[in-house]
Amino acid sequence: MRIPFIAGNWKMNTTATEAEKLVIEMLDNLDRIKGVEKVLCPPFVSLVAINMMLQDSFIKLGAQNMYFEIEGAYTGEISPLMLSELCEFVILGHSERRWYFGETDEIVNKKVKAALANTLQPILCVGERLEENEAGRTEEVIDRQVTAALNSIEPVSNLVIAYEPVWAIGTGKAASGEQATATIQFIRDVLTKLWDKSIAQDLRILYGGSVTSANIAEFISHPEIDGALVGGASLKAGEFVNIVEQAAEIKGRTRTK
Ligand code: 13P
Repeated sequence: MRIPFIAGNWKMNTTATEAEKLVIEMLDNLDRIKGVEKVLCPPFVSLVAINMMLQDSFIKLGAQNMYFEIEGAYTGEISPLMLSELCEFVILGHSERRWYFGETDEIVNKKVKAALANTLQPILCVGERLEENEAGRTEEVIDRQVTAALNSIEPVSNLVIAYEPVWAIGTGKAASGEQATATIQFIRDVLTKLWDKSIAQDLRILYGGSVTSANIAEFISHPEIDGALVGGASLKAGEFVNIVEQAAEIKGRTRTK
């Protein structure tokens, strides 16, 4: 059974002071919600403080990126070993990393391997750009990104995949539930081809891109969609709690049928 999963990607937002305030605002209400795995991904500089704040809670912590080497002369980088003391998850291959910072499929593959080798669970992001979508190339792009990211990796169960179409990120133009479902089903086909059917059915696959409390129900009510990677809306405590509440309620209801 795939446990629903909602993660907040705060991106490059919140100072350390603001981040602590945001956690205080959402902590109790978020912690009370059962049946959903809840993950916060604040900026690196807040990981230590938030790790301490979440000690007695059921809320988990993730980083937004990392380098693939364990240690050494890589000025300014953060290693999987450093993160492994603080978090359980790490977002890898986010489209903002791919397009603003030149991360290639090969780099993403090295990072996925390094995360897994250091007990971090990758939240691997894949997604096509608008022109690729319009040219009918979505499946080709997703196939390439998933296959390359998991190249020469043995089947693992501690991996989450997020389908985030680039055209839906931060634009207010979310994909439809049907569009997201179709691509997520396709990702399961790719995983079946790469690994096997049972692992493809067990891994959680999320939707991300302009998710809010107003549209989460559209995604979460599809059995194929296991949760969401939330950007902007995860920076508002009430909004994020509401998204997680709806996910718990809807997945709980559809499961008991
Ligand atoms: P928005 O929810 O702000 O569109 O961002 C989505 C995202 O990129 C999450 O990783």
